[in-house]
Amino acid sequence: MRVAKFKDYASYQKWQVRGSQRVRDRPSACNKYEVENIATYFKKQRSQGPFNGICHGARCGTEISLFQGCFLDADIMGTDLAPVDKVSKKIVEWDFHKTKPEWKGKFDFLYSNSLDHSYKPFECAKEWMSQVHPNGFAFIMWTQLHVIHGLLPQSGGDCFSADLVDYIKLFDRYGVVKDLIYTADKRRPVVTLVVSPRT
Ligand SMILES: C[S@@+](CC[C@H](N)C(=O)[O-])C[C@H]1O[C@@H](n2cnc3c(N)ncnc32)[C@H](O)[C@@H]1O
Repeated sequence: MRVAKFKDYASYQKWQVRGSQRVRDRPSACNKYEVENIATYFKKQRSQGPFNGICHGARCGTEISLFQGCFLDADIMGTDLAPVDKVSKKIVEWDFHKTKPEWKGKFDFLYSNSLDHSYKPFECAKEWMSQVHPNGFAFIMWTQLHVIHGLLPQSGGDCFSADLVDYIKLFDRYGVVKDLIYTADKRRPVVTLVVSPRT
């Protein structure tokens, strides 16, 4: 596990916003089959909606739209330091290391494929788990791309490098990693951690 060191918060923020702007016209990194697998998993555990969901580091809102397609009556929002939300218009400009008081225990599901952009991954995992409803789940995406062999931070903003075991240990501190969802993908398989809050 390696985390980049930034001179101060302003340089972290600048790095992230610049990284996000560099890829603003590229397609989303979000995998639609992963979202469908998460929705199938979630619906087996919880049948009674409507649900509240949050997606952290949601840039252009693709995952919000995909989740919305699976949960028609859900209220799903997102966060991003530099939203480029052409799709859902439901992303607040917000640092995902922080929790608004009204978010405590609110969300039936929380999703992120952006933990590799955290400069304080332990604090981040703790905050995210505090936002999950006692009967809810956090779904945290990991792929081989989250293991970074070069210097940190990368030009895209990635500043946290960790393997799957690191991710599991990290989330087991603040929640219980109950399952892993595997999504096949020709380029890089996706593993999603399913994390319940500690009661
Ligand atoms: C790899 S991109 C993923 C974007 C989107 N989830 C997708 O699949 O297309 C990571 C995103 O996290 C955002 N980000 C980085 N640090 C953040 C922070 N501290 N709080 C909120 N968003 C952050 C970046 O601006 C960027 O849009």
